Amino acid sequence: MTKNSRANFGSKLGVILASAGSAVGLGNIWRFPYETGNHGGAAFILVYIGCVLFFGIPIMVAEFSIGRHSRSNTARAYQKLAPGTHWRWVGRMGVLAGFLILGYYSVVAGWTLDYIVQAASNSFAGQTANGFIAAFNNLTANPWRPALWMLAFMLMTHFIVVKGVEKGIEQSSKIMMPMLFILLIILAICAVSLPGAGNGIKFLLQPDFSKVDGNVLLGAMGQAFFSLSLGMGCLCTYASYFRKDVNLPKTALNVGIIDTMVAILSGFIIFPAAFSVGLQPDAGPSLLFITLPNVFQQAFGGVPWLAVILSIMFYVLLALAALTSTISLHEVVTAYLHEEFDMTRRKAAILVTTGCSIIGVLCSLSLGVGKELTIFGMTLFDFFDFLTAKIMLPLGGFFIAIFTGWFLDKHIVWEEVSNNGTLKKSIYRSWLFLLKYVAPIGIAFIFVNELGLLK
Ligand code: TRP
Repeated sequence: MTKNSRANFGSKLGVILASAGSAVGLGNIWRFPYETGNHGGAAFILVYIGCVLFFGIPIMVAEFSIGRHSRSNTARAYQKLAPGTHWRWVGRMGVLAGFLILGYYSVVAGWTLDYIVQAASNSFAGQTANGFIAAFNNLTANPWRPALWMLAFMLMTHFIVVKGVEKGIEQSSKIMMPMLFILLIILAICAVSLPGAGNGIKFLLQPDFSKVDGNVLLGAMGQAFFSLSLGMGCLCTYASYFRKDVNLPKTALNVGIIDTMVAILSGFIIFPAAFSVGLQPDAGPSLLFITLPNVFQQAFGGVPWLAVILSIMFYVLLALAALTSTISLHEVVTAYLHEEFDMTRRKAAILVTTGCSIIGVLCSLSLGVGKELTIFGMTLFDFFDFLTAKIMLPLGGFFIAIFTGWFLDKHIVWEEVSNNGTLKKSIYRSWLFLLKYVAPIGIAFIFVNELGLLK
């Protein structure tokens, strides 16, 4: 792939699957439930959905437009569309965010590989809830095991990215996405029918708005950007490989719907299961890994072979969902280095893999032996998560909205968004209104509110 002949995604379905593959990942199945648990449940989910509708989907259409029109990596895109301006820093900040996210995300992806092995060796059998907690702490406190799994995961990502966009990403998304979805539905049905699951369902459905404070707003906004892969040029880079006939608003809507459904479905697995065995919903990053083995144990414990098969399947699909996300993160940074610094894709990818692995090892250690070393009271792992999801991505989204809504030539915007003039003017105008006013003002409000400046 050279600068002039960029690869394209082969089909429209491929476009949706690749974008949804980037969006659907650990963010939905691991991060969404624990953020929901930390922030009190149903009210957080409603705020989250609001963020997806009013910020997420409009900004996604903007990112798609920037990417497809410029046909370049995210930093170059701004240079092409706004030469000689400082807008290119939005792209560069995105590349940096992608680099940091890939580092700590791969740690969690590594855990899923370890859990595949645990599931296959039937080590969940006969365990109690406390046993699962101990097993998880054992894993993360170990200096070697999670770091090695993280490296294994990083290498898988590396080789797919080096192979190129179409073959790697499109193919792997096509089979795995529908399978994951079906398995999630099965697990949700099982979890909901566990004894005592009712309180978990209540936690998901009965909003308590007195719990909504600045933290909840920032958490929900950050989660929306993180889960939709938004605000750092990830979907912008993917859109640079879209063909002209791809309908951008429709694709964004589809990705938003699929992504939100997977997240909510995961909530319906985790919380009924957690309440059923008396686990706290605010256990944080460990939540998925300590509740899920319980579901397999309790729902299928009577049929051991079924418990083993279903749990292996789940962790394999989870790892694959994470893989289609890490590929997209890796691709952003690789495409940037490859095109901006005139190096081969291979060399660019090696640099990214090496750098992110170093970050990954540090983040992994920060949950065990390095627990004492904190930044602003957070472990390195938590700090990178906070810095990227809650600061850098919404900030990136803010600037993307301003850039597309206020700065970019309206002919270009209409040309990209209207799908050859077939989009209804009224829909276009509503979208532009969300992008110009609602999203930037909303994001700014949440930031300012969190800083405590509004008191
Ligand atoms: N959205 C993915 C998930 O939910 C993670 C991810 C992939 C991401 N690419 C991104 C997050 C870009 C932020 C920005 O697991």
